[in-house]
Amino acid sequence: MAEIDLFADEKTQALAEAADLRQEIRHHEYLYYVLDAPEITDSEYDRLMVRLREIEAAYPDSVPADSPTQRVGGRADSQFTEVRHLEPLLSLSNAFSAEELRAFDERVKSGLPADAKVEYVMEPKIDGLACSLIYENGKLVRAATRGDGIVGENVTANVRTIRTIPLVLKVPEGETVPELLDVRGEVYMPRQAFMRLNEERAERGESEFANPRNAAAGSLRQLDPQVTASRSLSFFAYYLVGEGAKANHSDSLATLAKYGFKVSENYQVVPNIDDALQYIEDFNQKRASLAYDTDGAVIKVNNVHLQQLLGATGKDPRWAIAYKYPPEQAETTLEDIDWRVGRTGVLTPTAVLTPVKLSGSVISRATLHNEDFIKAKDIRIGDRVIINKAGEIIPEVLRVAVDKRTGAEKPVVIPDKCPECGWSVERKGAEAAIRCTNPHCPALGREGLIHFVSRDAMNIDGCGPSVINALMDAGLVRDAADLYNLQKEDVLKLDRMGEKSADKLLAALEASKANELDKLLFALGIRHVGAKVARTLATEFGSMERLLEAQPEQLAAIRDIGDKIAESVVTWLSVPTNRDLLERLAAAGLTMTFTAPASQEDNPFFGKTIVFTGTLPTLGRAEAKTMAQDAGAKVSGSVSKKTDYVVAGEEAGSKLDKANALGVKVIDEAEFLQMLKGDDAE
Ligand code: IVH
Repeated sequence: MAEIDLFADEKTQALAEAADLRQEIRHHEYLYYVLDAPEITDSEYDRLMVRLREIEAAYPDSVPADSPTQRVGGRADSQFTEVRHLEPLLSLSNAFSAEELRAFDERVKSGLPADAKVEYVMEPKIDGLACSLIYENGKLVRAATRGDGIVGENVTANVRTIRTIPLVLKVPEGETVPELLDVRGEVYMPRQAFMRLNEERAERGESEFANPRNAAAGSLRQLDPQVTASRSLSFFAYYLVGEGAKANHSDSLATLAKYGFKVSENYQVVPNIDDALQYIEDFNQKRASLAYDTDGAVIKVNNVHLQQLLGATGKDPRWAIAYKYPPEQAETTLEDIDWRVGRTGVLTPTAVLTPVKLSGSVISRATLHNEDFIKAKDIRIGDRVIINKAGEIIPEVLRVAVDKRTGAEKPVVIPDKCPECGWSVERKGAEAAIRCTNPHCPALGREGLIHFVSRDAMNIDGCGPSVINALMDAGLVRDAADLYNLQKEDVLKLDRMGEKSADKLLAALEASKANELDKLLFALGIRHVGAKVARTLATEFGSMERLLEAQPEQLAAIRDIGDKIAESVVTWLSVPTNRDLLERLAAAGLTMTFTAPASQEDNPFFGKTIVFTGTLPTLGRAEAKTMAQDAGAKVSGSVSKKTDYVVAGEEAGSKLDKANALGVKVIDEAEFLQMLKGDDAE
């Protein structure tokens, strides 16, 4: 009997600890994901999660569905089931000019008693997809897409993986939440996540998403929540419906923030339409610098009672409207198409345009992606085309102004020969890419070498594309191994190469020999092997020797490495000229091994928060950041009381001032490097 009690006691204690851990983890997830202001390091967070998982594994029957460990849990059905919204998900009508907004203001006023005091809430219009989240007694029980506004799709399993969506509402002590809450907002993909996702997809030969909104929609409609979880989706809450709504919309927004949702930091309450127009002008300046795409601003009557008096017409409320910014577009002539061969042998078409101004810069080239893109848009040489800036970053051909055709336009000839070497090209299976079939295509060599020496690969300073071209043209270098046989007198023969630059180049080559296997694997330009895969391979195998012996199944069994990557690696390694290259690189003294970062905890930077500012004398920003992270530090972009070290270089500005004001320790690059070696600067 006593023994049973003892066990019961142990269990009670463990479950109590688990409950505390869940609270603590939720708090830190909120700080990290919603406020962007973490207070603990990633590894400290990991430790909390590990401990919680440990307890939950011992008592699997006592794991609540809303535990932070259960974000990727239940599977989506083979199809997303339909759900009826508690209240229709309204849409918004659009306004495209100040006049239309003033007309909206007039309609609002004329629909309300003369003495009604109307103020507006201005919000960014997030470019994503609308979602309704149902919370029962503070717990997320269902999430649905808009669908037709009345019936949507049940995407609960996927929405649970979005870290900015609380599984359990944050409720301040002593307060209660309404039994039923319907939170509306926008699921979106931050720009950076979008670009990274597309890079990864291109690397794998998959089609790219056209914009962050499509990427967000595609990611939310995945049958496997694990995939959604890997896509870095986020959520902005912008509307509280029904029972939970406060008297003013702005109070609802504040309440949503209190419950733990991310609410736009750019919303503003304005007293009249003039100030609303001013907001629209001001926000247009700001939106390019946001981390996510916006396509306009939303103007909403603040008082919910007045909202109800105004009601809705069909699908649109009469109390709100979306102002859409004019798209940044321009029309110009497509003069020609330039097919370039990249380092993986893919021929990429670029539109050569009559230069035209577009949002402040002159555009003369725009991406055409691939053959399918050209065909789908029926692009012809000589066409007048409308270009825009996709995601406000890369210029893209949006469409052809077909009505402006004169008949003199010529169809695009898709090359059947490589523009570099004249070999035939091929298009394999479902791939959109056309590739040169010549394994020794000079373009591959040149682009491959440019990649080999680039910053994230072997990082050879003073060896830009023009130097590579000159070295190849002079017949001094054909492949990467030749770089390491260069003599100073050879290098000096190149145009515009003085003593100093030659010494610098040779020193950089020498230094690069110490790079570990992960950098080399990435530098080799093996198809589907990006920086991340290269690191995984290096970590897993530890040496080139062991990797060379690996069987495809062995590779494919590694997490994050699928059949396609495995096959690509094994094939590359089996080509005799590649083997020969590796031997010559090894003979030149390059490092062919990888040592996993040693026990980080001994390092003075372990668990510390570091901010880099200014230009460091020798280290690139990315390089310094990786070094710090490898040492177990968290690298942050802004200085606060929580910052442990600021590493300052030339022209460090306000961050340095702030560090000094807060008394944060400031070190220079030399001290940083010394401490990394394990000597504490203090
Ligand atoms: S309010 C009744 N606020 O734009 C209120 N919508 O074109 C309805 N959207 O369906 C929505 N940002 O998907 C609202 N701050 C914001 C928004 C927003 C983006 C989306 C939403 C809506 C669509 C209408």
